[in-house]
Amino acid sequence: MVHADASNFSEGITKDDAYEQVLMQAEGLFMDQRNWVCNLANAASLLWHAYKSLPAPSKEVNWAGFYVLDPSSRHPQLILGPFQGKVACQTIAFGRGVCGAAAATQETQLVADVDKFPGHIACDGDTRSEIVVPIVADTDGNGVKKVVAIIDVDCTMENGFDELDKKYLEDLALLLGRSCDW
Ligand code: SME
Repeated sequence: MVHADASNFSEGITKDDAYEQVLMQAEGLFMDQRNWVCNLANAASLLWHAYKSLPAPSKEVNWAGFYVLDPSSRHPQLILGPFQGKVACQTIAFGRGVCGAAAATQETQLVADVDKFPGHIACDGDTRSEIVVPIVADTDGNGVKKVVAIIDVDCTMENGFDELDKKYLEDLALLLGRSCDW
């Protein structure tokens, strides 16, 4: 199979099956590759094409990608990583917006209506709902997991994401956490 085929999802596929394909392809791609830029770039592509193969609201995803821990910042901050979609905010401090909340709390933020989330950062005015999942890793080898990146997916419809998205994106976050050198 050529690499690009990994991003082809069958017509009429269920959300479960689409995410299963994302996870299976990602696991295969990460087998011989631990570079985080490379792996996040391919993961963004898999997610984007999975959403586009599904009915609304998933089809109306307008941004899917990653922010990573900014190594050049003295205060904890995220910086834009690989993504699919329009140009986005470059840096986000821990605690700011939906992404910063996920990074600060190490907990998934499932936001049904971004207008109701205090401090939401409107990178794109079309975004109506959002899910952000932290990726953690034990980078110091002391058994303490810290946030190394976050998965961010935005949708132009309210209630774009549900518990199924949360479950599978958390599985993807676990896979990425252990499959890359952060
Ligand atoms: N809306 C996010 C910012 C990132 S962009 O949507 C890509 C937030 O509030 O953290």
